[in-house]
Amino acid sequence: MKRENRLIIYGIILCLLVVSISGCGREIPEEEIKSIKIGVTVYDQYDTFVSQLIERFNSYASEKETETGIAINLEVYNAADSQSTQNNQVETMLNDRCNVICVNLVDRTEPTTIIDMAEKNDVPVIFFNRELVAEDLERWDKLYYVGAKALESGIMEGEIAASVFKNNPEADKNEDGIFQYIVLEGEAGHQDAIVRTEYSVSTIIEKGVEVEKLNYAIANWNRAQAQTKMAQMLGEYGNSIELVLANNDDMALGAIDALKAAEINPERWPVVVGIDGTSVGLEAVKNGEMAGTVYNDKEGQAKAMLELAYRLSTGGSLSGLDLENGKYIRLPYAKVGPDDVEEYMNRDSRVP
Ligand code: BGC
Repeated sequence: MKRENRLIIYGIILCLLVVSISGCGREIPEEEIKSIKIGVTVYDQYDTFVSQLIERFNSYASEKETETGIAINLEVYNAADSQSTQNNQVETMLNDRCNVICVNLVDRTEPTTIIDMAEKNDVPVIFFNRELVAEDLERWDKLYYVGAKALESGIMEGEIAASVFKNNPEADKNEDGIFQYIVLEGEAGHQDAIVRTEYSVSTIIEKGVEVEKLNYAIANWNRAQAQTKMAQMLGEYGNSIELVLANNDDMALGAIDALKAAEINPERWPVVVGIDGTSVGLEAVKNGEMAGTVYNDKEGQAKAMLELAYRLSTGGSLSGLDLENGKYIRLPYAKVGPDDVEEYMNRDSRVP
């Protein structure tokens, strides 16, 4: 065969390859899509807030199926606190041809393997709740983040604590005009733990209340760990603790468990404030054990994530989704106290 003819044949083969790899350059129109598959992996299925968020996500998916007639198949995995397990789960979901993958990173500083695999397979990723650094999210245009406006949670927790101190003289147990506090912190390095600790305290001070830090302990968002840490601090500081600032409701409840186990008269309890508004957290605000909490809008986050996942899977436009910089969806927090707790309890129990 002549050299020019050979070149033409090679050229044709190359073109055919490109066309078949790119799916013949044709997107399936939405009306022809019968089903989509969404993969989800969570860092720990026993995390109270995350598990409630996923429950909502499932409900919104069923609602969307009914509304659109498109079957939504969900594959949900528990990474059980192991980043390498999570990486393998993402690989499985890609092999299973998920249209989009939602990742609640175990280690928010280690998204590289997942991003590389997803990009190679051209499958978009929605990270949620555990925020990766901006540079990582910039690495590919099909990466998104759904979460909350982190700063707000710390500020609001501080506002609740400051207002309790100002309006309830009995909160200042030793009557020295200073709010003696301890902090129960979430995981070291988690974006929410960092900002909640910093801004809750700085806000109390900004509101004109003098504070004294007695101690802090890391309890990894976990109720049992918080109970242990609180029991130790009660042993050390006893009645001097006037305020417990917990980075989440589960740890606030762990502190309450310790107060109960130590058989301290509730009249002598410190003021306890949490964040999340999980069902158990709201219950504790209602029965007066917690002074307040800050609502982490799991319904809003679940709904936004489902809508984004749906549109990415069906090739729909992302307009109207309130995407910051084309990549972030952040839902606002809200303060919850005894006066409005019922409203949030209704919202929490409403099946979407
Ligand atoms: C929630 C915590 C949760 C953590 C998990 C935070 O936003 O407030 O309750 O344990 O996310 O990543």
